[in-house]
Amino acid sequence: MLNHSVLEQKFIELYGGSSEGIRVFHAPGRVNLIGEHTDYNGGYVFPAALTFGTTMLLRPRSDRTLRLASLNFQAQAEASLDQLDFDPAHDWANYPKGVIVHLQQEGFVLGGADVLFHGEIPNGAGLSSSASIEVVTGYGFLAAAGHTDIDTVRLALTAQRAENQYMGVNCGIMDQFAVANGRENHALLLMCDTLEYKRVPFDSGAYRIVIGNTNKRRGLVDSAYNERRSQCEQAVQALQAAHPGLRLLGELTRSQYEASEQLIADPVVRKRARHVVEEIDRVLKSVDALQAGDLAAFGKLMIGSHESLRDLYEVTCRELDVMVEEALRIPGVLGSRMTGAGFGGCTVSLVHEDQVEPFIQTVGANYEQQTGLKADFYVCTIGDGVKEM
Ligand code: GLA
Repeated sequence: MLNHSVLEQKFIELYGGSSEGIRVFHAPGRVNLIGEHTDYNGGYVFPAALTFGTTMLLRPRSDRTLRLASLNFQAQAEASLDQLDFDPAHDWANYPKGVIVHLQQEGFVLGGADVLFHGEIPNGAGLSSSASIEVVTGYGFLAAAGHTDIDTVRLALTAQRAENQYMGVNCGIMDQFAVANGRENHALLLMCDTLEYKRVPFDSGAYRIVIGNTNKRRGLVDSAYNERRSQCEQAVQALQAAHPGLRLLGELTRSQYEASEQLIADPVVRKRARHVVEEIDRVLKSVDALQAGDLAAFGKLMIGSHESLRDLYEVTCRELDVMVEEALRIPGVLGSRMTGAGFGGCTVSLVHEDQVEPFIQTVGANYEQQTGLKADFYVCTIGDGVKEM
C-alpha cells in the first residue's frame, strides 16, 4: 500500500495546489468464503472484506467539473457532473462515473471534484476491484457533499445498480455489500433477498486464509454468468407448478426443492438449481461450524462447494481445478475452493499457519508445471468496509 503522503504528492503533481482540502477514502476488495452464485438467487453468501483495496483522494472544486485519474491506468476523464454519459474512451473511469450518475438520479446533490485513485487489487482476479472503486466513489462523494451518517447498505445497492445499468454487468449484490459493510476480523452472513445480515467473528485459530490467484484471464465470464442466471430463472418457472408464487430458488429449503426437483425437465437446468439450493445449505452449515469452532467441518464444506461449482454449476476451469487439487494435497489444508464468479480468478484455502510457506511454494510450483501459468498468493487478513482514512 502506498502511504498517504506519497499519494498526496502524486495528487498535487497532477492537480496542483497543496494538500489542503484533500480527503482520503478507502474501500477494500472482498473474498467470498462460501456461497457462490447464490446472491442473485436470493440465497446466503459469506464474504469478508480484505485489508487491501482502492484508495481515493478527493478534493472538492467550486464548479461542477469532475476530473478522474488513477495511478494504475493511463486513461483519465474530465466531464461535467451534468453530462456523465458512458464514454468508452474513459475506460475504467466509467465505474466511478456510473456511481455518481446513480447517486444524482436518487436525488443526492453532489459537487465537482478532482479525484485520484490507487488500486491494490489485481484486476479481473475476482476480488471485486470494480465493487471497491464503485463503493469508495459513492462514499467519498457523499462525504464531500456533507453527509456524515452514510447508509452503507443503500450505498451498496446504488453501486450495484450502477454496475448493472451503467456498466451493463448483471452482477448480484454480494460484492458491493461486502465492500461497503465488512468489518475487521468478521465475515458477513448476508441474506441476499432481504439484505438482512450478521457480522460473524471469524476466528480461524491456527489457520490462515490463503488466496491463490490463478492469473488465468477470465474469458467469457459475462455471457456464461448471464446464462447461469437465466437457467436459474428457468428452474424457478418449472418449480412454480409445485410452489405457486415462487420468485427465487433461495426461497426453497433443500427438502422442499428435492421433493419437486423432478418438475425441472432439462437436466442441465436441474444441475444448476441443485447447486444453488445445496450451496445455500452449505453456507448456513459453515456458519454453524465456525461458531462451534469446528474448522475441519468448515473446510469440508468448502471442498463440497468447489466440487459442486465444478460438476453441477460448471463455472470452474482447469486452472482453478488444478490449484484446488494441488492445495488439497498439502498437509494442514482443511479446505480449498474457487471464489467469485469463476472461469478463472482466485481460489481460497484454509491453511495451517505452519504450512503457509510450503503451501505457497509447492502449490505454486505444481500449478505452474501443469498450467504454464505463474500463480500469486495473498495471505489474507479480514479488514474493514469503506471508510474515510
Ligand atoms: C460475481 C458477482 C457476484 C456473485 C459472484 C458469484 O462476483 O459480482 O454478484 O454473483 O460472482 O457468487
